[in-house]
Amino acid sequence: MKAELGRPGAPQPGDLQIAPMLVSDIPEVTQIEQLSFSAVWPPNAFYNEVKDNKLAHYYVGRVGPRVVAYGGLWVILEDSHVTTIAVHPEMRGRRLGERILAHLIDEAIERGASWITLEVRESNHTAQNLYTKYGFTAVSTRRGYYSDNNENALVMWAGNLKGEIYRNRLRALKGALLER
Ligand SMILES: CC(C)(COP(=O)(O)OP(=O)(O)OC[C@H]1O[C@@H](n2cnc3c(N)ncnc32)[C@H](O)[C@@H]1OP(=O)(O)O)[C@@H](O)C(=O)NCCC(=O)NCCS
Repeated sequence: MKAELGRPGAPQPGDLQIAPMLVSDIPEVTQIEQLSFSAVWPPNAFYNEVKDNKLAHYYVGRVGPRVVAYGGLWVILEDSHVTTIAVHPEMRGRRLGERILAHLIDEAIERGASWITLEVRESNHTAQNLYTKYGFTAVSTRRGYYSDNNENALVMWAGNLKGEIYRNRLRALKGALLER
């Protein structure tokens, strides 16, 4: 996938249009979800998040009319939590996941968060690399957190989001992302 980054016609990070998730996006989101996770959220979980949860902020990334990525966030005062993020398997390795994560972090900061956390499977090194790039570090382990295979979750965390150092890091990463 990464080799196709420069191929004419292949989507570039800047081609991704990110917008709040609508109920009408949920069928496409659910498809990506099923292709991405061994334990999936049912469509009504997304529906409840989008319609009812005032603390939840969900986004989709489109290339043209097609939803190819999504991500979600909870923000509770200064605390924020990435609840999910996924890119359609055909579209991975093109820095679209990175665009979605950067957007979630921007939204968290905009909404007042000072730190951000998430859980990730111990075996999911791809996602861990992405989070590490954006300043997350592993702070603890939740043993047997994933009920489908009893896998441990790493809890990853990034703090001082409003501080100069983190803001500069985020600015540099986003600049590099859109220059490619
Ligand atoms: C994790 C996921 C969202 C990453 O999205 P993506 O668009 O494929 O990733 P990007 O192209 O934006 O890559 C960004 C960074 O992720 C990491 N990464 C991406 N693909 C990788 C791979 N194959 N191997 C190792 N690290 C990888 C790298 O750090 C990369 O930055 P770099 O190329 O500068 O090193 C995507 O793989 C996915 O949807 N996975 C299935 C769902 C999932 O696991 N979600 C996370 C749940 S916690």
